[in-house]
Amino acid sequence: MSNQQNNTLAGTPNIPVRRMDFEFDDAIPKYWFANNPMLTMLLTGLSCSFPEGERMFMRAVRHYQDRITDPELMKEVRAFIGQEAHHGKEHQAFNEFMARKGLPIAKIEGFVKNAIAFEERHLSKERMLAKTCALEHFTAMFAEAILEHPEVLELMDERLQPLWLWHAVEESEHKSVAFDVYQQQVDNYWVRVSEMALTSVLFTYFTGLHTVQLLRASGEQRNFKATAQGLNKLIGPKGFFRGMLPQYLAYYSPNFHPSQRDSSALRERGLRMLKGLLGDKLPLAA
Ligand SMILES: [Fe+2]
Ligand SMILES: [Fe+2]
Repeated sequence: MSNQQNNTLAGTPNIPVRRMDFEFDDAIPKYWFANNPMLTMLLTGLSCSFPEGERMFMRAVRHYQDRITDPELMKEVRAFIGQEAHHGKEHQAFNEFMARKGLPIAKIEGFVKNAIAFEERHLSKERMLAKTCALEHFTAMFAEAILEHPEVLELMDERLQPLWLWHAVEESEHKSVAFDVYQQQVDNYWVRVSEMALTSVLFTYFTGLHTVQLLRASGEQRNFKATAQGLNKLIGPKGFFRGMLPQYLAYYSPNFHPSQRDSSALRERGLRMLKGLLGDKLPLAA
């Protein structure tokens, strides 16, 4: 962690931009999540899509930045861009750490980059913003599930817990920003929900594909026991995704807004945990 003294937080009081500088020790085991190849490669595959995916979110929102007249939303957009830029930087460092384990990270990152470039060439700015809102809903759901079930974090190597916890807190903090820009600047229900339906299929398919590619590269594609244990942790009776379907479906309501789920208590608890993990290395609110 770099020197955090004199660290003044950019962003807004509710969306502070915390500058982290994680270093990932090569002594951290390859299967750092519950010692389970499937769970580890699922999150690693997601992380491969974060740096370019988050740059795509930034571009989608930035396109409308000059048209925003609400001064509060303007500040929130800057904070959103700041937070996402830092997520991309830290996940890039994490991805490089996993690449040093011999995984085909560059190949997956390259695929994600090309796929996003293709979408940006063929989809309207409205759709790219709707896609950003859809993916922000996914990240907020996953983030708040992590905050709600911190025992999930305890399954991770403790040196990686701060990365995922910090990212989860900030995804919850800024979950309304892209949506508010969309509602003010586009406000098209059909585009919003049709893009969510499309994005859900693509996101699920490519997340699964990247997980399989990484498992194959690790020689773990036939480790059915670990895959069954991992799936049980995700979708079993006490699984991580349990209870998420109503939250997902809520997005299709014409009256949906991300703030309808008040997660401030979850975020406060998450920040206390982060403080416990990082101590005075955690940038403090001004
Ligand atoms: Fe992010
Ligand atoms: Fe985000």
